[in-house]
Amino acid sequence: MERPILTIKQAAKLLQVDPNTIYRWARGGKFPASKIGKEWRVLRSDVIKFVESKKAQTQFLTKSQEAELITALVGRREIPLKLEYLGEGADRYVAISAPEVAGGSEVEIIYQYKERLSDFLKNRRFNLLDIGCGDGKKAAFFISNITKQVSSYSGLDISPRMLDLAGQTMQIAHPELAYEQFIDDFEHGSISNTTYYLNRRYQHNNLILFLGNTIGNLSDAHRVLINLRDGMSSQDLLFVGMAFYNPKNIPIASYNEKAIDLLWTVPEKIGIGRQDAKIYWTYNAALRQLECQLEFIKNWGKIFGGNPIRFGKGQKIRLAISRRFTKDDTFELFARAGFKIEIFVHDKDNALVLCRPHAWEKRI
Ligand SMILES: C[S@@+](CC[C@H](N)C(=O)[O-])C[C@H]1O[C@@H](n2cnc3c(N)ncnc32)[C@H](O)[C@@H]1O
Repeated sequence: MERPILTIKQAAKLLQVDPNTIYRWARGGKFPASKIGKEWRVLRSDVIKFVESKKAQTQFLTKSQEAELITALVGRREIPLKLEYLGEGADRYVAISAPEVAGGSEVEIIYQYKERLSDFLKNRRFNLLDIGCGDGKKAAFFISNITKQVSSYSGLDISPRMLDLAGQTMQIAHPELAYEQFIDDFEHGSISNTTYYLNRRYQHNNLILFLGNTIGNLSDAHRVLINLRDGMSSQDLLFVGMAFYNPKNIPIASYNEKAIDLLWTVPEKIGIGRQDAKIYWTYNAALRQLECQLEFIKNWGKIFGGNPIRFGKGQKIRLAISRRFTKDDTFELFARAGFKIEIFVHDKDNALVLCRPHAWEKRI
């Protein structure tokens, strides 16, 4: 039988590392060993958990996400925002998704136009596909208030943790619905594999939700709309929540107060500490977008993914944008991507678009 309690030498043998390294880690509190009198002892189960926790740290990104990160970071001094939602970033986002930060007041505008939206959707059944689902709470609200005629709920997100959270939300709010999850990156191409599968599996048209001003965080919203359009038939619908341009409400202060922690997720994973840099939001009036930067306050260098990465004091990395849309921007964006807008409504700070793809003859 395997011994449940090990000496440091036995733990080192199990881990195939030098015992002196384990002694050093144990003395520095970095290894789960306890001192019993003068001797160190380790639980075998703690050694296994220790290896698993290291695996979680190094597997924060897939190989292709690591390549995308290094290319963006070294090539154009950017960290793609989507990577910030991985791992604990998901919980950090959920913790700050207060109305003025995450577009939570979308819920208010959805509620305000409840009758009109419900009326448009009545007498049809849909497979609901929530793109960039987050914790799924807005979708749950949408199902409860706008259309109960949903055959299934599917979350599509880059973040496995977000998909877990959305699953938990639906389990509580709508346990009767079939739940499916898709780990995917909608910036990488058409989502037709998913939409085609849902269509065949549930035998209804797809209603795609794209909420939380996720569209305003994209460096190329047109490209993503094309990706969505290429996965839709002309009977499918797309429902998008956007931040509406309100010159009297540019929430820099609240972003600087609340939406910073999330953006430390990737920098910290690659070894940029809070003592090395500061992160802050500014407003770019010409482009009508809030922009977030990380600025080094000292020279910094590390090896990441086998690559030496260096930045000098004062150099900046772009972490995020959050665009505000006018009515004209919105109509131009959707028309150019080949969508026909069925419903466009807005209040002071948010806009909603319900649209469907145009047949190719009608595209401009
Ligand atoms: C701003 S949050 C919105 C969450 C939710 N829809 C809401 O309104 O509360 C953006 C969500 O999209 C996901 N996301 C961002 N970029 C993505 C990408 N390229 N592919 C897939 N998911 C992405 C994030 O993980 C996150 O869950």
